[in-house]
Amino acid sequence: MEKITVDQARKAEAVGRQACLQGWVRTRRDSKGGFSFLELNDGSCMANIQVIADGDLPNYESEVKTLTAGSSIAVEGEIKASSGKGQATELHASRLHVYGLADPETYPLQKKRHSFEKLREWAHLRPRTNTFGAVMRVRNRVCRSIHDFFQNAGFLYVHTPIITASDCEGAGEMFKVTTLDLDKLPRDGQNKIDFKQDFFDRPAYLTVSGQLEAEIFACALGKVYTFGPTFRAENSNTSRHLAEFWMVEPEMAFFDLEDNMELAEKFLKTIFRDVLNDCGEDLAFFNERVDDTVLPTLEKIVAADFVRISYTDAIACLEKNNASFDYPVSWGVDLQSEHERFLAETEFGCPVIVHDYPRTIKPFYMRANDDGRTVRAMDVLAPKVGEIIGGSQREERLDILEQRMGEQDLNPADYWWYLELRKYGTVPHAGFGLGLERVVQFITGMTNIRDVIPFPRTPGSAEF
Ligand code: 4AD
Ligand code: MG
Repeated sequence: MEKITVDQARKAEAVGRQACLQGWVRTRRDSKGGFSFLELNDGSCMANIQVIADGDLPNYESEVKTLTAGSSIAVEGEIKASSGKGQATELHASRLHVYGLADPETYPLQKKRHSFEKLREWAHLRPRTNTFGAVMRVRNRVCRSIHDFFQNAGFLYVHTPIITASDCEGAGEMFKVTTLDLDKLPRDGQNKIDFKQDFFDRPAYLTVSGQLEAEIFACALGKVYTFGPTFRAENSNTSRHLAEFWMVEPEMAFFDLEDNMELAEKFLKTIFRDVLNDCGEDLAFFNERVDDTVLPTLEKIVAADFVRISYTDAIACLEKNNASFDYPVSWGVDLQSEHERFLAETEFGCPVIVHDYPRTIKPFYMRANDDGRTVRAMDVLAPKVGEIIGGSQREERLDILEQRMGEQDLNPADYWWYLELRKYGTVPHAGFGLGLERVVQFITGMTNIRDVIPFPRTPGSAEF
């Protein structure tokens, strides 16, 4: 018999089909008439399908009546039109097979609703909850949208390394990768750790960004993007930071900052539109249960232009409200989450692109402006989550790049290959990084980033 999903079986056109559905029981209700109603979910959509299991089934007493929340079953039968509220169809079982029961004494996902904090302890079971199922379907749709967007625009997907020797952001927040015996570290003549004896003959790290390597490919193939896991050993225990997160990074030859901003805005709007078109049921759930501004916000954003404002003007605007901040601002400081949110939520009520930041607070690779104090940086700030994209035009002038490295105490020898891109056929280019979890957080309204990634890695936490 043909296997179909709950999503397929719930559609009116499925009426009359004989099919097999497999999934997990959410509830069982026994009717006085000697039959049972089961709510079956298989993760293909938010909704369950109602299964009607008749008392005539050979295993009705022995098995069907033992089913509880979490049990796994296969049901064969006919899909019929339903007179029940909120459902077009229901499944009349002619055969019901039980794969596994779930002891109601110990199975955690009973009727009672658990907090998101509690559910994090059950990362192996939380995908079976409505909220997490919806998060994962949205996350998947966003990933598909990311690939579609770049593929349709002629970008090449390149794979940049996970293990690397260079610190892209220059912030020293890298996890070390080593096979040295930590109990017996080899020492060199100066009693320093002898990395010559390590796996790679040198210190190696997990990447914080694929940008520098993506630049290599943009400076040969034009428009590229990389999309992979990224690691940051910063000790930030916030609702917006993970130690392992996914980042998509486009890098484009012959793009300046204006082109970059335009691409970022088009890109985000495409993702939002795709999710609005294809994840209606899940978004309706978030809007009803998590944050009732989610849907109107997305609809408004896809229809309007993002605001663009220079860092200098943004500071002037924020300074007027310094009294309301924990960290008052002045020209030269980095923006905190409270300032980013003030701009996107209170001041403009829409995504804001802040550009041309002070050179002292941004990495070495950003293109220096002629004013001597700012660089061609851009951050896209979204209501609720703050920074969602960070990017810049890159410094393509060799001498200025070397000077910037000097300012930030970086050793040019460590970046010899990056400098050679400027020595041989240098071109203006630009790119940005979008944090996948930040965008999923924004779309769903989930307040903690740990609830939009399957297995969150944060300081002190790496179970599973
Ligand atoms: O602003 P970031 O650090 O920029 C870069 O890494 C550049 N190399 C990107 C580029 O130009 N190719 O990070 C980019 C984005 C941030 O805007 C944010 O959305 C996300 O990555 N991000 C994090 N997401 C979750 N947890 C963290 N600890 C994050 N750090 C950055
Ligand atoms: Mg940033």
